[in-house]
Amino acid sequence: MAGGGISVQGGGRNYEGGVTVFVVFACVAAATGGLLFGYDIGISGGVTSMESFLSKFFPSVYHKMKNETADHQNQYCKFDSQLLTLFTSSLYIAALVASFFASSVTRRFGRKISMLVAGLVFFIGSILNGIASNIIILIISRLLLGVGVGFANQSVPVYLAEMAPTKIRGALNMGFQMAITIGILVAGLVNFGTAKIKGGYGWRISLALAAIPALIMTVSAIFLPDTPNSMVERGHPEKARKMLQKIRGTDNVNDEFQDLVDATEAAHKVENQWGNIMQPRYRPQLIICVLIPFFQQLTGINVIMFYAPVLFKTLGFGDEASLMSAVITGGVNVVCTAVSMAVVDKFGRKALFLEGGLQMILCQIAVGVMIALQFGLSGQGTFTNAEANWVLVFICGYVAAFAWSWGPLGWLVPSEICPLEIRSAGQAINVSVNMFFTFLIGQGFLTMLCHLKFGLFFFFAGWVTVMTIFVAFFLPETKNVPIEEMNRVWKAHWFWGKYIPDEAVIGHDKHDKAVV
Ligand code: BGC
Repeated sequence: MAGGGISVQGGGRNYEGGVTVFVVFACVAAATGGLLFGYDIGISGGVTSMESFLSKFFPSVYHKMKNETADHQNQYCKFDSQLLTLFTSSLYIAALVASFFASSVTRRFGRKISMLVAGLVFFIGSILNGIASNIIILIISRLLLGVGVGFANQSVPVYLAEMAPTKIRGALNMGFQMAITIGILVAGLVNFGTAKIKGGYGWRISLALAAIPALIMTVSAIFLPDTPNSMVERGHPEKARKMLQKIRGTDNVNDEFQDLVDATEAAHKVENQWGNIMQPRYRPQLIICVLIPFFQQLTGINVIMFYAPVLFKTLGFGDEASLMSAVITGGVNVVCTAVSMAVVDKFGRKALFLEGGLQMILCQIAVGVMIALQFGLSGQGTFTNAEANWVLVFICGYVAAFAWSWGPLGWLVPSEICPLEIRSAGQAINVSVNMFFTFLIGQGFLTMLCHLKFGLFFFFAGWVTVMTIFVAFFLPETKNVPIEEMNRVWKAHWFWGKYIPDEAVIGHDKHDKAVV
């Protein structure tokens, strides 16, 4: 995952110093940021499939589900309610708006202030969510959680990138995605446990438990130091040097410190990143920074992440089996993200994108065909146990493929393809496009399922086909390319090469170190 700005120092240079206790704490803070986001992604699906929650806040959906209305026969439509989807998706629209505010708070007041805001707002949101007595409070608290996610997603990756020694920066970038998937899995497990609580308040526990990572994040933000980069940016170079010595565990930080100061000056000279990125010479990066997050969401992954229990219930799984299935897909997601981390620098980005794409298409078609055969157009039917297990197998195959391709790479690739002078703008575009389409899919899925029926799976398979072809022809391989030398890769590309002026490649070493 990534935020609205990313910093890069020392294209390939080795500085003294290593992993210190501060860096370890930075990882913990980052992990809680990712957990928060993941927990939210995973929690709402289970909660919205709990009867006590539905009967309290969404009685019409509850009655439909209980087969009390005329269209009860149509499985595809039993959860279709704009209000129900708003519960899930409102968070992402709030996160989208908040990440823009967060971007200037992070720059003007430092990274830790944004992290503190994220933790606090999130904490209040989770408590309100857990004690909500009506739909208005429920949605308001969800919006607050969105503000927390917006601030966390913007500031934590920037904090991480700046605290991390260069050598482990890439791994930490993917570590954040890993934390997201763990958050989703934990949410699945919590739902599985709380659904068993008699008395109908299990959903309150599910929602309120988000307060724990929020508290950890708030406390970490209070005690963690701000980054040296941020100190230089805000005019405290001497404090910054001391901090750098402390976090690198050595007094000899001259090279890194000088690079940091130069980079900050360079970044200050780039006055208008937004104007810059619109220039024709940055067209390739701009297009990729818009298309990657758009495509990532059009894989349909969040249909599974948000609504797995609802989807499984739609397909006739029992309550417990539905929640258990969400735990299984969550587990596959975590394991396969780890696989991706292990092989991404060996096999490269494109190989993972292409294999993952193909596997997703096959699995989606298989699920679509099975649902078509069993439920047809009318939406009437149920799966036998064996059939239900096969559906689960194909859905797991699909989640696995996403988890080692579009999941982590959807965040990694946009963060590494932009030259310094447009990096911050490129990241902001990436985050906002992602949040916007996360919102659209979250809001649209249950209605789409009702209207497109089994065709929904072919719809997403079609999009994955388009994006896989796009990757094959238009995405350059960026494995093992130093970040400030990326222009060479663009220049050598059969299609994008013509956009890159010669001097952008020859003069690349001018930008050898930089902070955005
Ligand atoms: C995506 C999320 C998704 C998650 C699933 C992330 O990369 O941005 O939308 O829910 O992966 O693991």
